[in-house]
Amino acid sequence: MKITLETQPAALIETEALVTYVFEEDDPIRGVAVELDKAVGGALRKLVASGELTGKTLEMTLLHYASGLKAQRLLIVGAGKSAKWGAPELRRLAGAALRYLKARAVKQLVFLARESDQTAAAAQAVAEGLLLADFEPDKYKTEKKNHKKIESVALAGWDAAHRAEIERAVERGRTIAESQNFTRELVNEPSNHMTPRMLAARAEEMARQSGLACEILDENRIEALKMGALLSVAQGSAEPPRMIVVTYTPLNPHAGAPVIGLVGKAVTFDTGGISIKPAEGMDKMKYDMAGGATMLGVMRALVRLKPAVKVIAVVPATENMPGGKAQKPGDVQTAMSGKTIEVLNTDAEGRLILADGITYAKQLGCTHLVDAATLTGAIVVALSNVNVGVFGSDPPFTDRLLVSARAQGEKMWPMPLDDEYGEMIKSPIADIQNVSSGKGGGAITAAMFLKEFATDTPWIHLDIAGTAWLDENKAWAAKGPSGVAVRTLVDLVMNLPAENK
Ligand code: BES
Ligand code: MN
Ligand code: ZN
Repeated sequence: MKITLETQPAALIETEALVTYVFEEDDPIRGVAVELDKAVGGALRKLVASGELTGKTLEMTLLHYASGLKAQRLLIVGAGKSAKWGAPELRRLAGAALRYLKARAVKQLVFLARESDQTAAAAQAVAEGLLLADFEPDKYKTEKKNHKKIESVALAGWDAAHRAEIERAVERGRTIAESQNFTRELVNEPSNHMTPRMLAARAEEMARQSGLACEILDENRIEALKMGALLSVAQGSAEPPRMIVVTYTPLNPHAGAPVIGLVGKAVTFDTGGISIKPAEGMDKMKYDMAGGATMLGVMRALVRLKPAVKVIAVVPATENMPGGKAQKPGDVQTAMSGKTIEVLNTDAEGRLILADGITYAKQLGCTHLVDAATLTGAIVVALSNVNVGVFGSDPPFTDRLLVSARAQGEKMWPMPLDDEYGEMIKSPIADIQNVSSGKGGGAITAAMFLKEFATDTPWIHLDIAGTAWLDENKAWAAKGPSGVAVRTLVDLVMNLPAENK
């Protein structure tokens, strides 16, 4: 999808669809809408008077072939209350407009911004919203949706004098949205097209195209490094595990600067192992590699945005299968860190592979860790499919991430990590057990398990089990993989000071 700038006055723009938006207020017709209302002979004000056009969030009002306009269609999108307006709302609105028009076989549109949104940041948000909304999980459909496709979008309203700055902002938006879509493509792949080896190959390909360093540890290296927790999950599968390591090094690294470790769970299919899951809905467990895919998407964006800090993505990848060699409930495993784990439930496999991922990231020199994982059904009980669960050992670091999440319009909510939860994963025969013997708090005890491996390195855990997959279409996004947390993590790294605190 091409994105260009358009500098003609609104009424003169020749396009299949001219899009703008109005706020929900006593008189929604303000600013650019006044000009358009005049051009269409007062039709907009009449629609307001009749109660059809109110400005309510994502309300769509479509006019065809209005005389007075060169545009074939005029789409007025409701922007909601102006008090709640910001980049996240603008991003969604642009996306919703694109999907609305794409469904109507429109191939080209012009997005006209209101006066207050004619900034570089707003242009970036619009570009992101458009490209994210354009994503369709239809790779395996031989007939794509009747060939409906948006070929190009022009941004209008922005000052031509700032063309270079706006174009740079659009390119930043493209980098971020295409990286989030890269994550979504990986997550969308069914497990027969996304084994651990295939994920490693996709990571290598992305790294080569982007100029990132990439190292893939095979089963022999994993064994030599004594990653016993990862191996214990992989041993039930015919497919060998991989540890994927992707590194971004800034041009002028500061001495003593932080090194960020991004550890992502990549279980390419989670049957539960011997503690096998019920058949109903098991197909969805192809998305159990979303945490790993998230970190690869973040790296793809970072190498193009060039932050001043070093970042290493560590992605343990395996299937969780109930093969003849599978680990059994009650088995004791020794993790890379040396800690022993009593595996009481083989379906709590994510924390096992992350344990070794976290240990390895620390060994590679990471001073700050963030992990992302579709870790627990319990986070869905706690936060439904609305918020990402955020757990952290270092309040300033966690707060910084929550600021990024808010700026990016990704809902995330802090969760507790009291010592009492740690008591619930003490094993009678090993250092730690992989499921809680207490009642409830399953997402928290899972996080406490990871904390045992992060130890005193500042660490954040994102439980994305409820949010990495959209079960329903949204006005601005197709149902399927959401790519949640990519933008937040990119924002976090871009805003980290290069000096250690
Ligand atoms: N991949 C699942 C978590 C999950 C469950 C994600 C449902 C999305 C929807 C994870 O490996 C798992 O199976 N967790 C178990 C842990 C339990 C055995 C302690 C769970 O949440 O049921
Ligand atoms: Mn599981
Ligand atoms: Zn899992």
